[in-house]
Order: sequence, then structure tokens, then C-alpha cells
Amino acid sequence: MEKIDCEESQVDHSKRWTIHTANWRDYSQLYQLERVCFPSEDNWPFWDLIGVLTLPGLVRLKAVMDGYMVGFIGGERDTGQRIGWVTTLGVLPAYRRLGIAQDLLFRAEKLLAMPTIRLSVRASNQAALRLYETNGYSKVDRWKNYYFGGEDALILEKNR
Ligand SMILES: CC(C)(COP(=O)(O)OP(=O)(O)OC[C@H]1O[C@@H](n2cnc3c(N)ncnc32)[C@H](O)[C@@H]1OP(=O)(O)O)[C@@H](O)C(=O)NCCC(=O)NCCS
Repeated sequence: MEKIDCEESQVDHSKRWTIHTANWRDYSQLYQLERVCFPSEDNWPFWDLIGVLTLPGLVRLKAVMDGYMVGFIGGERDTGQRIGWVTTLGVLPAYRRLGIAQDLLFRAEKLLAMPTIRLSVRASNQAALRLYETNGYSKVDRWKNYYFGGEDALILEKNR
């Protein structure tokens, strides 16, 4: 398995990333990105990763820089309720605060093409909460004990 290099010193911040639709060939890089970005208990199992990369109708976008996937966003539509859900979003630590998550979010919202976009986030995840608030999301619900370890989820929503 190819190792993702995310040493801060090797990142040239003047370079722009590119955004592409991901596919099953990205499994190994997505696996590593998830493990770097999320606490182990929040890691998606094999079939969830394969699902987000292959199931029809889902949104799967990767940000590529230096030849690697440095960010990923997944999304799905609840067509009955006309809600698009952002199901996962992560950017490798060395590539953060460049605007990559914001770019992925903006593009995923457009692809989801639903009047309402929702997502869940750990109540303590200040970086993500700031990102979402900056991008027009506000809290609409709290799911008690939703995450492993008993932490609540905040449900954020944006109406387009
Ligand atoms: C949350 C995360 C996706 C943000 O990725 P990112 O590419 O660094 O975010 P961006 O550069 O697009 O940030 C855009 C804005 O969001 C806010 N923001 C992002 N990270 C922040 C942080 N650590 N602290 C405060 N504000 C932050 C800022 O307003 C930022 O704009 P600025 O840099 O001009 O101040 C990234 O930190 C990450 O992968 N975290 C681990 C996984 C995770 O928590 N995912 C979300 C699960 S719901």
C-alpha cells in the first residue's frame, strides 16, 4: 500500500489542488486519509469506504495535490425528504487551512443539488463547526450519545 506523505515541511502552499470524482481505485488512499483524519472509533469500515466510492448516485470528490488525495468529501441524497447529506469530509493535516475543505463542500453541495444540506458533527469538533458555520450552516438538532464514546452529534443544516 502506498504511503501518504504528509510532512508539513514538504508541502508547497503556493500550489493549488485539483478536484476530481473519486472511484474504487482510490480505496487505499481514502483508507489512509480516513485513518489520519478521524479518531479510530469513527473510522469507516471496509464496506462503507467501498460503498462511498462505488454506489450509484452518491457524491464522492477528492482533492489532489502533490499527486495524492489530500482531501475527500462524500455525500448522499434523501430524495424523499429533499435533503442532501454530507457523510464524510476530511483533509490531511499538512494540507489544512488552505481552503480545500471549503472547496470540496461547495462543490459537493452543488452536486447534491438539494434545497437542504445536512451533516452531523461531534459536538467538540471546533474546527469542523467553524468551517460549517463560516459556510452558512446552523445547528438544527442534537443527537444524544450518537458517536462511539457517548459524544453527542450536532446536526447542522444549510438551506440553499
Ligand atoms: C475540518 C477540516 C475538514 C477542515 O479542513 P480545511 O481544509 O483545513 O478547512 P478550510 O481550509 O477549507 O477552512 C475554511 C474555514 O473553516 C474554518 N476552519 C477550518 N479549520 C479550522 C480550525 N482548525 N480552527 C478554526 N477555524 C477553522 C476557518 O474559518 C477557515 O477559514 P480560514 O482558514 O480563512 O480562517 C479538517 O480540519 C479535518 O479534516 N479535520 C478532521 C476530520 C473532521 O473533523 N472532519 C469533519 C467531520 S464532520
